[in-house]
Amino acid sequence: MVQRTLAILKPDCVRKNLIGKVIKRFEAEGFKIIGMKLVKLDSNTAGEFYAVHKDKPFFYDLVSFMSSGPCVPMVLEKENAIEDYRKVIGATDPGKADEGTIRKMYADSKEQNMVHGSDAPDTAEYEIKYFFSSKELVENMG
Ligand code: CMP
Repeated sequence: MVQRTLAILKPDCVRKNLIGKVIKRFEAEGFKIIGMKLVKLDSNTAGEFYAVHKDKPFFYDLVSFMSSGPCVPMVLEKENAIEDYRKVIGATDPGKADEGTIRKMYADSKEQNMVHGSDAPDTAEYEIKYFFSSKELVENMG
């Protein structure tokens, strides 16, 4: 089934000038970019986006990191996009991520882990709507 997932290139990815390399990898893996923008989240927005983690001990650090610089939310489309994307990025902790995954190759820590990805169809739908209106998504790639 063709699915959509929300990817975010996090502030560490942008600071390291790795936007192009990561997008190149997504394209090589067969993902179509159907929405993309560069934004700097304020802490309220980052906190709202990650509200599911609000009781976790790392919540404050996560919000301050995600609002520390620009990031690149994007909507990726592909057969089985949600699971396949998670395989390409690897485990949350780069120390536990498989060889060749984006987090293994480029991430410094669990928190500064380069990329975000939706973890299930219902969260993907919520997260995509969080960043993109339907007019901002390209329905027919041609
Ligand atoms: P992400 O996929 O963006 O979703 C939630 C984020 O919280 C996750 O990636 C990590 O960056 C961060 N995170 C999850 N667990 C921890 C942890 N134990 N310590 C610090 N940050 C974490």
